[in-house]
Amino acid sequence: MALLLLLHVLLVTVVARPPAAHAWGKDGHYMVCKIAESFLTEEASTAVKDLLPGWAGGDLAETCAWADRQRFRYRWSSPLHFADNPGDCKFSYARDCHNTKGEKDMCVVGAINNYTAALEDSSSPFDPTESLMFLAHFVGDVHQPLHCGHAEDLGGNTIIVHWYRRKSNLHHVWDVNVIETAMKEFYDNDLSTMTQAIQRNITEEWANEEKQWETCRSRTKTCADKYAEESSKLACKAYEGVEQDSTLEDDYFFAALPVVQKRIAQGGVRLAAILNKIFGGNSRLQSS
Ligand SMILES: *[C@@H]1O[C@H](CO)[C@@H](O)[C@H](O)[C@H]1NC(C)=O
Ligand SMILES: *[C@@H]1O[C@H](CO)[C@@H](O)[C@H](O)[C@H]1NC(C)=O
Repeated sequence: MALLLLLHVLLVTVVARPPAAHAWGKDGHYMVCKIAESFLTEEASTAVKDLLPGWAGGDLAETCAWADRQRFRYRWSSPLHFADNPGDCKFSYARDCHNTKGEKDMCVVGAINNYTAALEDSSSPFDPTESLMFLAHFVGDVHQPLHCGHAEDLGGNTIIVHWYRRKSNLHHVWDVNVIETAMKEFYDNDLSTMTQAIQRNITEEWANEEKQWETCRSRTKTCADKYAEESSKLACKAYEGVEQDSTLEDDYFFAALPVVQKRIAQGGVRLAAILNKIFGGNSRLQSS
C-alpha cells in the first residue's frame, strides 16, 4: 500500500514536471504580441486576423504561447526556440544555428527566417496559420537574452538559483520570475497595466531609438541574427556573479527588469515590422 502510494507520488511528480523551459513565459509572449498588434498597419492587421485560428477570438496575442504547447506534438520544433553559444557572448549563424543532430538552420534565427519566407510565399506548402503562430512566438523568444545563452548550461536551465525564497533556475528567472515579481510589485498583478507601461515607454522614453529597432538592412531574410547577437551580449551580463545555488534578490531584479521590459518592447516593435513587411507592403509603423 505504502509502496503503491509512493509509486503514485513519483509518477505524478514525473508527469507533472514541466519540460525544461525555453521560452518567455506566457505573459512575456502575450506582451510582445499585444505590443506588435498596436503597431500593425491596417492591411497587416486584417491579414493576420484572417489567418488566426477560431479559438484566438481575433487576437494574435492569444496564440503567442501556442508554439510552447507543440513541443511534444512537433518534437522537431524544440530546438527552434533558442540559439545557444559556446560561451563567448556572440551569435554566429554558421556555428550556432543547428540542432543537436547538427542539422543546420534548426535554431530560433533559422526558424524566424523560415516562417517569414513561408508567409511571403503563397505557394509554400506550410500551413500559414501555423507559420504565423510560430513566427510570432520565435520573434519573442529571440529577444529573451537567455535564449541565446551558453550551450553548456542549456541557456541557464541547469543553473539552480533561489529567486528570493523560491527555488528556480537562471533561465526561468528571465522567462518568468522577473515578470511575475514586477507584476506583483508594480502593476497590481495586471498584465494589461504592465503592457501599457511598456507601450508608453516606446512612444516617450524610447521614441528616438524605436525607429532603429525596426530598421533592417540585411541580405538575409530578416534581421533575426542581429537580435540573437544582442541577446547573447545581454545574456553574458545576466550570468555575471551568478553561480549554482546563488540567491537572487532586489539587486538582481532591479538590474534585470529594465532589460526585460526593453526586450519585450523591441520584440513587439520588430514583430510588427516583419508582419507589416509581409502583409502590408511597407514597414512603416502605424501606432494606434
Ligand atoms: C520550417 O518550417 C517547417 C514547417 O513547420 C518545418 O518542418 C521545418 O523544420 C522548419 N525549419 C526551420 C529551420 O525552422
Ligand atoms: C521605461 O524606460 C526607463 C528608461 O529606459 C526604464 O528604466 C524603465 O524600466 C522603463 N519602464 C518600462 C515599463 O518599460
